[in-house]
Amino acid sequence: MTRKILVTSALPYANGAIHLGHLVEYIQTDIWTRFQKMRGHECWYVCADDTHGTPIMLRAEKEDITPEQLIARVHAEHSRDFAGFHVAFDNYHTTHSDETRQYSEDIYAKLKAAGLIEVRSIEQFYDPVKNMFLPDRFIKGECPKCGTMDQYGDACESCGAAYAPTELKNPYSAVSGAKPELRSSDHYFFKLSDPRCQEFLRRATREVCKGQPEAINKLQEWLGEPGENRLTDWDISRDAPYFGFEIPGAPGKFFYVWLDAPIGYMGSFKNLCKKKGLDFDAFWGKGSQAELYHFIGKDILYFHALFWPAELEHAGYRIPTGVFAHGFLTVDGAKMSKSRGTFITAESYLAQGLNPEWLRYYFAAKLNGTMEDIDLNLDDFVSRVNSDLVGKYINIASRAAGFIAKRFDGKLDARHLNEPFRAELPGLIEAGEEIAAHYEARDYARALRRVMALADQINQYVDRHQPWQLAKQEGQDARLHEVCSLLINAFRILTIYLKPVLPKLAHRAEEFLNVAPLHWRDAGHLLPPAHLINPYEHLMQRIDPKQVEALVTANRESLAPTVAVTGPRSGSPGTQGAPAPTSAEPSPQRKAQHQQATEDKTQGQAEPKAQHISIDDFAKVDLRVARIADAKHVEGADKLIQLTLDLGTETRNVFAGIKSAYDPAQLVGRLTVMVANLAPRKMKFGMSEGMVLAASDADGKSPGIYLLSPDSGAQPGMRVK
Ligand code: 2FM
Ligand code: ZN
Repeated sequence: MTRKILVTSALPYANGAIHLGHLVEYIQTDIWTRFQKMRGHECWYVCADDTHGTPIMLRAEKEDITPEQLIARVHAEHSRDFAGFHVAFDNYHTTHSDETRQYSEDIYAKLKAAGLIEVRSIEQFYDPVKNMFLPDRFIKGECPKCGTMDQYGDACESCGAAYAPTELKNPYSAVSGAKPELRSSDHYFFKLSDPRCQEFLRRATREVCKGQPEAINKLQEWLGEPGENRLTDWDISRDAPYFGFEIPGAPGKFFYVWLDAPIGYMGSFKNLCKKKGLDFDAFWGKGSQAELYHFIGKDILYFHALFWPAELEHAGYRIPTGVFAHGFLTVDGAKMSKSRGTFITAESYLAQGLNPEWLRYYFAAKLNGTMEDIDLNLDDFVSRVNSDLVGKYINIASRAAGFIAKRFDGKLDARHLNEPFRAELPGLIEAGEEIAAHYEARDYARALRRVMALADQINQYVDRHQPWQLAKQEGQDARLHEVCSLLINAFRILTIYLKPVLPKLAHRAEEFLNVAPLHWRDAGHLLPPAHLINPYEHLMQRIDPKQVEALVTANRESLAPTVAVTGPRSGSPGTQGAPAPTSAEPSPQRKAQHQQATEDKTQGQAEPKAQHISIDDFAKVDLRVARIADAKHVEGADKLIQLTLDLGTETRNVFAGIKSAYDPAQLVGRLTVMVANLAPRKMKFGMSEGMVLAASDADGKSPGIYLLSPDSGAQPGMRVK
């Protein structure tokens, strides 16, 4: 039966570059949609740029261009990068579109008519210099729980506490540096706490996450037990100035970016419907028989498994068939890091001349349909691609093709080979349905293990029959012809099994095999007798480890402090050291907001300059050159390194929050600058007796932290002024 399937990946924000972390999702989704198409289903893959919100508005302002100009430029960059990795959307649209506006207004109007929108006045921080209300993540101050400076308005990155921005001590605007004022304004809420929403979510949403027990546990936690009402209403409006869609009938109020972002899935599909003459309602209408799947990162599950189905349901649309959440990418076991060169952009990967299909293969070999994080181990990347893809799979074609060309004019054996094929390579054809089931379940790792086991079996056949020996022996022509023809057929079948992962390679293999684009069902039969193949050209190079080294070097930001040192009040990226995170978890909503804002802050917001201080104020800070005499990991601390700092006449123990950027071994012996007269601070791991200075971007956390170093010649203990 032909299925109708609509698939989406999360919409990337329209002001940041696509990096390898993003690609985990787009490659995963692309493999799945290619697989469905190969199976003969009607499958559409749509996506778009997520273009609205404060960070994009401020970013455009910083670049002195309009938001429209910014999103147009980024749209072109994203499209280029996705195409470079063979991510084949059927439509790549934008949320700043007529279609998305139309569905946002429509959904809003229906929710309103259903009595699920409520207007309430709320008090919020307002920046009197920028004349705007401040999103939580644009307010900073001291954590109300642990006192750490420069924490965002929603959660403390040091102790993990969640709070309201109004609870921060000494709050300031991260946009202008001004002291914010509390002002009230009307906000529009989607009443998720309404019994209809609660009841619906309890009944329906587990189904949406079926197959992912971790996601179902999360839902259970968010929804609580029947009778409990854990869900709170969702604030879906923002005040002007805001880059987004104005709410009909509410001048100066805009839909919050997360309201229209998933509606962008509908907008993009509607746009595709217009181009292709498809029936939108057949996919989105209530009672639609089509399947609808959203591939997302686990950090945005809350939006997709709660808000989104509740909106759709109560606005009269169908709900998703499934939400497939995946984990994050680590590189060499750690979070991607600019200082280590592992924060790798899609553009730089391609610019360094690395083959995108190497990465597609590697990611696929790691993806298993769960929410576990996946690790790109760079050594393993080289060896796995070289040994599996080139050594096992490509090798099959290269071992047989030369003999077919030279000895048999490019023609395969003229006999029907079904019998010897099934006898010599049992299971190769039959494995097709099992491999398909693994793809269907998004367990690509298992699918590829099976394919590589088949490749091993084929290579053993080569070794048993040694075509190069047969070629030297008198009277063995027919045998040689049969062996090589079987191998070409076997190569063709493996190509089918690998085609969702390696579309470009498969295309080149199809040219070599002289066949039409391969479908899954083609694995059920062999090439016709005496089929003519084309001359073999090498299909894939091995990875030279030097290429990977060059990629990391190209992405490594200089350790020299080239970025502006953040001002005293915006402080350092936790360099004073931080107590270990507590288990205090932000509420799901807050966490979801936090996660969105975490993305926001990667969007390059500038650190505001601190207010003026007098020279006397500055002189109060005793800055000294220090030599790092020792550096150690701190057991049980995620962010800290314990430093022993030599000041010439004394040593100090300092816990510095720089673990994400440095290995302790790298640090020993180098000079840095410390605040020597900071009051000692008792921490969970011991006393911290000062603070080292480091530069970072506005978020003060990721991915770059740059420890300061004096020029050579400076001596421990020297005063810095
Ligand atoms: O987290 C993000 O990157 C969002 N831009 C994802 C949006 S997905 C969908 F809802 F549009
Ligand atoms: Zn704190």
